Amino acid sequence: MVKHENFKTCDQSGFCKRNRLYADNAEVSSWTSPYELDPRTITFKNGELSGIILKSIEKRSEKVRLPITISFLESGTARVTVDEEKRQKGDIVLRHDSKARKERYNEAGAWALVGGLAPSAGAALSGEAKQGTTSVKYGPAGTFEAVIGHAPFRIEFKRDGVTQIQLNERGLLNMEHWRPKVDKAAAPEAKEGEALPAPAPPKDENEVDESTWWEESFGGNTDTKPRGPESIGLDISFPGYDHVYGIPEHASSLSLKTTRGGDGNYKEPYRLYNSDVFEYELDSPMTLYGAIPFMQAHRKDSTVGVFWLNAAETWVDIVKSKTAANKLSLGIAGTSSTQTHWISESGLIDVFVFLGPTPKDVVHSYGELTGYTQLPQEFAIAHHQCRWNYVTDEDVIDVNKKFNKHNIPMDVLWLDIEYTEYKKYFTWDPLTFDDPENMHKQVAKSGRKMVTIIDPHIKIADGYHVVEELKKKQFGVKNKDGDIYEGHCWPGQSHWVDAFNPLTINWWKGLFQYANFKGTGPNTFIWNDMNEPSVFNGPETTMPKDNLHHGNWEHRDVHNLNGMTFHNATYQALLSRSKAEEKSPRRPFVLTRAFYSGSQRSSAMWTGDNLAEWPALAASIPMVLNQGISGYPFAGADVGGFFGNPSKELLTRWYQAGAFYPFFRAHAHIDTRRREPYLAGDPYMGIITDALRLRYALLPTWYTAFHEASVTGAPIVRPNFYVHPEDEAGFAIDDQMYLADTGLLTKPVVTEGAESVDIYLGDDKVYYDYFDYSIYKGKGSHTIKAPLDKITLLMQEGHIFPRRDRQRRSSALMKFDPYTLVVVLGPDGKGQGELYIDDGESFDYESGAYIHRKFIFENGILRSEDIGKKGKLTGQYVKKMDAVRVERVIVVGGPGEWKGKSKVKVSREGKEVKNVEMKFVEGKSGKGSEVVVRDPNCKIGEGWSISFV
Ligand code: GLC
Repeated sequence: MVKHENFKTCDQSGFCKRNRLYADNAEVSSWTSPYELDPRTITFKNGELSGIILKSIEKRSEKVRLPITISFLESGTARVTVDEEKRQKGDIVLRHDSKARKERYNEAGAWALVGGLAPSAGAALSGEAKQGTTSVKYGPAGTFEAVIGHAPFRIEFKRDGVTQIQLNERGLLNMEHWRPKVDKAAAPEAKEGEALPAPAPPKDENEVDESTWWEESFGGNTDTKPRGPESIGLDISFPGYDHVYGIPEHASSLSLKTTRGGDGNYKEPYRLYNSDVFEYELDSPMTLYGAIPFMQAHRKDSTVGVFWLNAAETWVDIVKSKTAANKLSLGIAGTSSTQTHWISESGLIDVFVFLGPTPKDVVHSYGELTGYTQLPQEFAIAHHQCRWNYVTDEDVIDVNKKFNKHNIPMDVLWLDIEYTEYKKYFTWDPLTFDDPENMHKQVAKSGRKMVTIIDPHIKIADGYHVVEELKKKQFGVKNKDGDIYEGHCWPGQSHWVDAFNPLTINWWKGLFQYANFKGTGPNTFIWNDMNEPSVFNGPETTMPKDNLHHGNWEHRDVHNLNGMTFHNATYQALLSRSKAEEKSPRRPFVLTRAFYSGSQRSSAMWTGDNLAEWPALAASIPMVLNQGISGYPFAGADVGGFFGNPSKELLTRWYQAGAFYPFFRAHAHIDTRRREPYLAGDPYMGIITDALRLRYALLPTWYTAFHEASVTGAPIVRPNFYVHPEDEAGFAIDDQMYLADTGLLTKPVVTEGAESVDIYLGDDKVYYDYFDYSIYKGKGSHTIKAPLDKITLLMQEGHIFPRRDRQRRSSALMKFDPYTLVVVLGPDGKGQGELYIDDGESFDYESGAYIHRKFIFENGILRSEDIGKKGKLTGQYVKKMDAVRVERVIVVGGPGEWKGKSKVKVSREGKEVKNVEMKFVEGKSGKGSEVVVRDPNCKIGEGWSISFV
């Protein structure tokens, strides 16, 4: 059970409580927001509007000046940034002689953003603006508009004249300006870990409850808050939108719940404060290990979104209202509106606004800013076997052998923290891992890799070179007094690597050089864990907020970025393990637990320490789906569950689900019993092996999906709303997954003893069972038999997907295997699909070393078209793949007219070559027909066609 008392509720987090109270006060009808955009200050140049917002403070004539810029970007995205002049100029006094920076943190973009910031040439002030507003037209063909109200300050974003997103419509904009501490009669004090006594309703801002302005204690730790209160808050409303998604990581439903109480809803806001939450609870808005402050709102045929670029602790309240829609969004089809309230402890208000109109557009625009997922090495999307811990190098070799013996495909063996000597990273325990080179060698024989864990806490131990260098070079995170911070984690007393410092990154890279990290080789990759950072004796199991990072930024400002800076540094380190590799690098693989927007560029993630229980398996599906639509699709959960011993049935079902996680790794806690698939016995081992073989057979399809994600940001596994944005009944469905654009739809069994599952179809197309071609048709729910040995997997008509059907021990051994193409037809007899291949290792694909084909089936003819762009290395690569061919074409749902046929005509590169045999098997009793063409002798890298008519 999670220890609730270790983590703050909103009420126990001073700034969250203050902003919620602000929201409550703003509910009254007489409320007007005290923020005005001074029209005299507005300028517009190069797609950017600037001005000064004035915040009125009661009983004071002076107004707080808040510079605002609204940038209109070429991509159609708008960015609203609000700063505070006094802090910007450093015109404030810090308490406690703090060395912290005075500005509001303004470097989140430097870590999170990699593109998409070109200003729009076409954005222009609109002449039609009403009195008291300024209006800017922008976006595709000027169809977007931002209507900026001056007093009170607010913005409406419109698409085709209809309001989609409103900022400060409810008047919750709140930027806690700097003020000196005035000693007054003692304010009520909070007892540790308890909710604060309710303050009297505010009359004057200076009379509000100040008890959390200057100091805050929780769990025996006191935050000294040298800059005083500095939180930001803003309401963002989506008129006419019923569903909002995103803001991972939470163990919650995909369609986010409301957070202000009521039946079946949460009472707490969704929290984003990267944390190591022991035995985290399900169906909860509690924070978890990572944070992506990106949200989408969806209604029938329209999707919009916002990205809240802030790395401090953040809370998001969500409410839905029926009335607002009618009042505010005339002409919008939605039945209700969603209103959100974003609250961060410090930093800038920096919001990106996406106007869609499709889920694909919004995810793409977000990816343009924060980057797309890296194209992983092929092994990384295969099956990983981990446990805490394989205890000796011999043990690892033995596990490797057993996978071979039982013919169970597996690509990577993992080493958790026990491989080190006393948890000193970059060392090996000399007693248990005395020959790591040999271990790597044995594992590599089957084409397999290894992953070793390296955490950010560095043990304080005499003679340990890593800690000595860290201290000497001052590369650790500092405490508030400027000394290297010390805390407790796996190794005992430790320091923490400060990867915000470019010099630290250089040093970190050096540590991974083969010459320095002995015992590892080119087939070693890295797992970064505990990088929230997890500090066992710190407040909320993390670092004090008044700790200092490079540049004297407080930990408070950068907390949610911390994990990403660390795994980014590791990614860079893996690019330069030797001089030779620096010149021709292979793609790094890094798994991280903590993450932020942008983490997708350099890592995979998993959902941390789940329980070996059925509900945890169920919870993993919406979590993985959410990662996908939030721009970070390389995601998975510990297969089998981390804590506890799964029943064999649960383990088997988990492998069947895991075979559809983009990141597919089995892992287990040190206190659990061994549970490698070969230990499962009959019939479980065979069933698990089948699930693994299905994953391996579909690897070409997965790899093609990863390629798409790497160039467009599209999710790899997709929820119903993304695939069927028009299907209102399916917007909340989050227990089944489409695999990219392939029409493959799986609904994992997540309950004990299930014999069937109800799968939801979002349209009226024909769906075939993957294994026996049973037909399902008709929008809505269908019951499918799902005995233990059956994976629920359907194929939607209209698609073509590639497979490799030869069973091997690892993906590396499949590199030159032939392909099977599966063509899935409906009554219109049309299908389409893609295949992307490259060497699966290097960056040569950037110079054209890849094959990218589109397969089209129409008018009875299947053809392969080149859709790649030629580059320097294209010819060479295609030649290397010359012997790789299509060994089989399977057409499911071919028309009855083909019945008497026995031959297809195959043409290669436009020339008719020969007739090849085909076999037609009629679909009986509600099943689709099957046509098999064996060995049409078509090369995978060339153009060809196969005529069935
Ligand atoms: C953390 C990780 C877990 C790992 C353990 C030991 O709990 O989440 O996966 O096994 O640390 O390193």
